[in-house]
Amino acid sequence: MVKIMTTKELARKVKKHEETLILDVRNTDDFDNWKIEGGKVEVMNEPYFNLLDGVDPVVEKLEIEQEVIVVCAKGGSSQMVAELLEEAGYENVYSLEGGMKSWSEHLEPVKVGELSGGGTLYQFIRLGKGCLSYFVEANGEAAIIDTSRMTGIYEAFASEKGVTIKYVLDTHLHADHISGGRQLAERVGGTYYLPPKDAEEVTFDYTPLEEGKDIKVGDISIQPIYSPGHTIGSTSFIIDDRYLLTGDILFVRSIGRPDLAGLAEDWVGDLRNTLYHRYKNLSMDFIVLPAHYSFAEELGEGGQVSAKLGELYQRNSGLRVEDENQFRKMVTENLPPQPNAYEEIRKTNMGKISPEEEKKKEMETGPNRCAVER
Ligand SMILES: [Fe+2]
Repeated sequence: MVKIMTTKELARKVKKHEETLILDVRNTDDFDNWKIEGGKVEVMNEPYFNLLDGVDPVVEKLEIEQEVIVVCAKGGSSQMVAELLEEAGYENVYSLEGGMKSWSEHLEPVKVGELSGGGTLYQFIRLGKGCLSYFVEANGEAAIIDTSRMTGIYEAFASEKGVTIKYVLDTHLHADHISGGRQLAERVGGTYYLPPKDAEEVTFDYTPLEEGKDIKVGDISIQPIYSPGHTIGSTSFIIDDRYLLTGDILFVRSIGRPDLAGLAEDWVGDLRNTLYHRYKNLSMDFIVLPAHYSFAEELGEGGQVSAKLGELYQRNSGLRVEDENQFRKMVTENLPPQPNAYEEIRKTNMGKISPEEEKKKEMETGPNRCAVER
C-alpha cells in the first residue's frame, strides 16, 4: 500500500520551510502553468505517460532513500506512479491525496498577532493559489476579509474559537478566485460588504464599504481606506491602528495590476495615486498584509506574508518609480497573462452566473496573477 500525504501535511512542511521534494506527473503544459511552490520546495516534472513502461526517467534524478511526494491533477495517477517507485525499491514515497485540485483548496491559518483588548488577527494562506484571506476576532465577534470559496473552513475556525462571524468584507470584486463572501455572510447571518464602485453590476444586496464608516469587531475597529487602482473600488483596511490590509493594491514583492476589467489605461493613474500619495501619508510602521503573493520567497517566517510599509518603500521596486510616465510604462508593459477564466470568475462574483461546484473548481485552477510582473 502506497503512503498518502494529505494537503494539510504538505502545507505544514511548506510553511515550516522544510526541504520537500515533489515529483509532478502532470503533463508539462499544466506543470509550466501552475505548480507547488514555496518554502524549500523543489519540484520536478515527469509526465505520467513517460513512466508507464518503467520509472527509469526519474530513477537517475532520485536517490533511493530520498523522500518524494508524487503529485498529479486529482491524486489518481500519482498513486500509480508512487506504487511503481515503491516496486523499484523506493521506500520513502508518498502520493498527494487529491492532487493539485485539493492543493488549490487548502487553507492554512497563521496567527499574525494579538490585537488590543484581547483580539487576534489570523492570515489564511491558500498555498496552492497564493491567495490570502484574514480572520479578525475580538470579544466574541469575528470579521472575515477576502473570503475564499471554502467557506466551511472559516466557519469551523470560528466555532473552534467560540466567536460569531458578524462581518464579511471583500477589498474588491475579485477576478482570480471565486469569493465566498456573500455565501458565508448568508450562512452565518452576517453582513456582506463590498466597495460600491466595484459593485455596480452585482445582482444581489450588499452593504457598501465606505471610508469614514468604520466597522467594529468587538472593541477593534476596521477602518476602510478608499484606494483604487487594481479596480476602481479597491478598498484597504486599517485594523487596530497597526495593520494595513492592502487587498490587491500592494504586495510584498510587487504591486497590483490595473487591467483585469480591461481598463489598464484608465486605472494606472489611480494606482499611482494610491501607491505614491495615499499610502505614503500613512504610518510607515503599519504592517502590510496583502490579498495575494506571487513568489515563493514572499512566504516568511512560519509562512506569514507581511512587511512593514516603510520597508516596502525601500525595497519594493513598484514603489520606486518616481517618474509618472515611466511608472505607466512599467505597469502596462509588465502585465502577466490574465488568470484562468477571469471573466467568468468576475461574473460569478457579481452573481450574474452560478456555475456548478465542479465548474467552479475548474475555473479556479492556476495561479492568481493579480500582480504586475517584473
Ligand atoms: Fe484581485
